[in-house]
Amino acid sequence: MKGKLKRILVIPLMVCILISGGCNMSSTTVTETSSDLSWWQKTIAYEIYVKSFKDSDGDGTGDLNGITSELDHLKELGVGAVWLTPCYVSPQADNGYDIADYYNIDPAYGTMEDMDRLIEEAKKRDIRIIMDLVFNHTSNENEWFKKSRSGKDNPKSDWYIWRDPKPDGSAPTNWRSIFGGSAWEFDETRGQYYLHTFLPEQPDLNWENPEVRAALRDVANFWVKKGVGGFRMDAITYIKKPAEYKDGTPDAEDGMVGIHSMTANTDGILDYLHEFKSSVQDGTDIFTVGEANGVKPSDLDDWTGENGVFDMVFMFGLVNIDLPDETNWCETRDWKLDEFKSFFTDGVKSSEGAGGWFPVFLENHDQSRSIVHFLPEGGDRKARAKALATLLLTMKGTPFIMEGEELGYENVNWPSIDDYDDISTKNHYEFALEEGYSEEEAMEAVHHFSRDSARTPMQWDSTQNAGFTTGTPWLPVYPDYETWNRTSEKEDPDSVLNYYIKLSSLRREHSELIDGDYEEIMHDDESIFAFTRNNGTKKATVLINLTNKEASYDPGTVKDATCILCLEGDADPGALRPYEAVIYEE
Ligand code: NOJ
Repeated sequence: MKGKLKRILVIPLMVCILISGGCNMSSTTVTETSSDLSWWQKTIAYEIYVKSFKDSDGDGTGDLNGITSELDHLKELGVGAVWLTPCYVSPQADNGYDIADYYNIDPAYGTMEDMDRLIEEAKKRDIRIIMDLVFNHTSNENEWFKKSRSGKDNPKSDWYIWRDPKPDGSAPTNWRSIFGGSAWEFDETRGQYYLHTFLPEQPDLNWENPEVRAALRDVANFWVKKGVGGFRMDAITYIKKPAEYKDGTPDAEDGMVGIHSMTANTDGILDYLHEFKSSVQDGTDIFTVGEANGVKPSDLDDWTGENGVFDMVFMFGLVNIDLPDETNWCETRDWKLDEFKSFFTDGVKSSEGAGGWFPVFLENHDQSRSIVHFLPEGGDRKARAKALATLLLTMKGTPFIMEGEELGYENVNWPSIDDYDDISTKNHYEFALEEGYSEEEAMEAVHHFSRDSARTPMQWDSTQNAGFTTGTPWLPVYPDYETWNRTSEKEDPDSVLNYYIKLSSLRREHSELIDGDYEEIMHDDESIFAFTRNNGTKKATVLINLTNKEASYDPGTVKDATCILCLEGDADPGALRPYEAVIYEE
């Protein structure tokens, strides 16, 4: 036994005090932002897990026509950019992150005509579609890989990373893939191993080969011509491999070392990405956001801004705040609120310093739900979700809402590992047992970190299957759907959904929340996350109590300011109820 799953929440638990009443919002006049920000800096982005959003044909799987039918939900949220998880042809070993054909839509999700219609209908609502480019690897069913594995002399033999076995026939290195097990798979035909950072069904492309880079640029340009608004670049920090393939020092009892520590952000990677930027993005108005595990705020000068490679960079310090080693979900660490705050402050400041822009996110399809992940247990669920919504929508940067976050979703806590679908969850569970943790500990970790919590079907209404499908959903709908669904929340003025909608219009009405400078205040306060947004004309002060107990602050902080978001009848600066958020303006 190496250790136990520790409870990670350090903020004391207190009795819940319900926050009631709606919010006072100011007039609905839309103030034009005076700055020269790009469209994607002023808007709100929304991630759709295509498989789980809305099924239009009753096969239990979400699809493009389903998304088109619900665009008005996104419009109402003020969303201007919709990131679709991969919907290209795929055998779905990793739910689409294993692409067999970058130029066609998977039949389970629809057709290219459906995609064209989605792009067009979205544009009518000022919404741009953002495609997920999975370029570190393909599916093993991609024609490129089929050719590459067919022998050592074919024109694509060098498109993937092939290496001979060690003299004893074992894998070329002791690297462990991100999803567990060796990162090398032996191929009988070639008599060689190929590298896969993720599943064996996801062989890594060889970016050293200029033909590979050209083929990927062609894919991206195909989608630019279709009229998409940008790209999220999957697992992009792994595309460059080290010059030498060497064993690393084992980091677990299996004798292996996580591939991340051996290949992430390898020198030379930026050359490839500059080449990509100039041949795909220059002269367009699209934006790019890189999924950049391994990139830290101090690296941002190279990664974002004019001299960098992406417009925005998703960094992972925040979502891994409780997880020192992503391989081992059973070893967590305690953290304090000042660390949490620093991830935002450092992220915003370093992005600015680099001349870039910060993507604000608390959730995505690889993470558990934020109200469980980041807040202490207990307290009113709506208030918890609203506190984090305030942070997400008032922090400087482009907010990325994860499907369902706007409804206040919690984690699924299914009793058995067999209830889970996600391959990474199952592999983490197996790894935990192999490393000597008990089944109870392994399941506790699954409940806390499983990616399935972000992937259950969208809850549209209280009818069967939450209105997601008329068939059998590919993943069970979470049982709380009878209360926590779009339709019911729309009717409830105090709901999480209506709070998101109000906050979204508040951003447009008070443009300093979009273009204002960001300064953190009260950094050492252990309950309140507070900051200002100042655009020279107006200054907003945001105060969010992230605990389930009352908190106080110096009322002078907001002296002479008007509350633009506060509970009805609450004119008592200086005190915040559990999870209460307020915004003052002067
Ligand atoms: C990161 C994606 O977000 C995740 O869902 C996927 O499994 C891996 N990359 C592999 O593509």
